[in-house]
Amino acid sequence: MRPENAPTESARQGVRIVGLSGNFARPSRTRTLVSAVLDSAAARGLGSTELFDLVDAGPGLGQATDRSQADAQLEAVLHAVQSADALVVGTAVYKGAYTGLFKHFFDLYDMEALARKPVIVTATGASPGHASVIDYHLRPLFLFFDAVVGTRGLYAVQQDFESPERLTEAFSRRVERSVDELQAMLHVPLGQS
Ligand SMILES: Cc1cc2nc3c(=O)[nH]c(=O)nc-3n(C[C@H](O)[C@H](O)[C@H](O)COP(=O)(O)O)c2cc1C
Repeated sequence: MRPENAPTESARQGVRIVGLSGNFARPSRTRTLVSAVLDSAAARGLGSTELFDLVDAGPGLGQATDRSQADAQLEAVLHAVQSADALVVGTAVYKGAYTGLFKHFFDLYDMEALARKPVIVTATGASPGHASVIDYHLRPLFLFFDAVVGTRGLYAVQQDFESPERLTEAFSRRVERSVDELQAMLHVPLGQS
């Protein structure tokens, strides 16, 4: 018997779920949050997962003002994100919004690049009051691209982490609810067994 929420073999075959975390340094709470969503998706067998951050994109990100100027390192991450079947994105809150380089990464895509792609949006910050970054910054950005944005964004503050590398149990349960939604967006029925 397969565990609860396990998809059928055919549902998961070839499906790629890619995370893009907008951190510039590691360890990173944002990276930990994106990674937790990916780990849960992988544990359910929803697809293969890959996690990239802005360290992976390299210093060329800040220098490219157009995708044609992207070096090979940056282009590899741009391509991985664009070709994914679903995305899990995350940013730290900087000055009340996403970080500049996170936005710059997505500025390099043309407006069709992410159309119809399921996206789970996540963020971390110091202040609970800045949870609004989910609805005022991340959601409009991905709706601009005609992506299919999950209704449940995830916003974590310092108290939601046991350490920069580990979320609390309570927050991990919220991660599971977001992955329920990701599963539905990938058209994999919940509760199969
Ligand atoms: C330059 C800078 C600006 C920040 N601005 C905010 C902010 O406006 N609101 C907030 O809640 N946290 C703010 N923070 C805190 C970070 O969002 C928070 O520590 C985040 O979890 C860091 O993520 P990371 O570990 O992935 O780098 C700021 C941090 C830095 C370094």
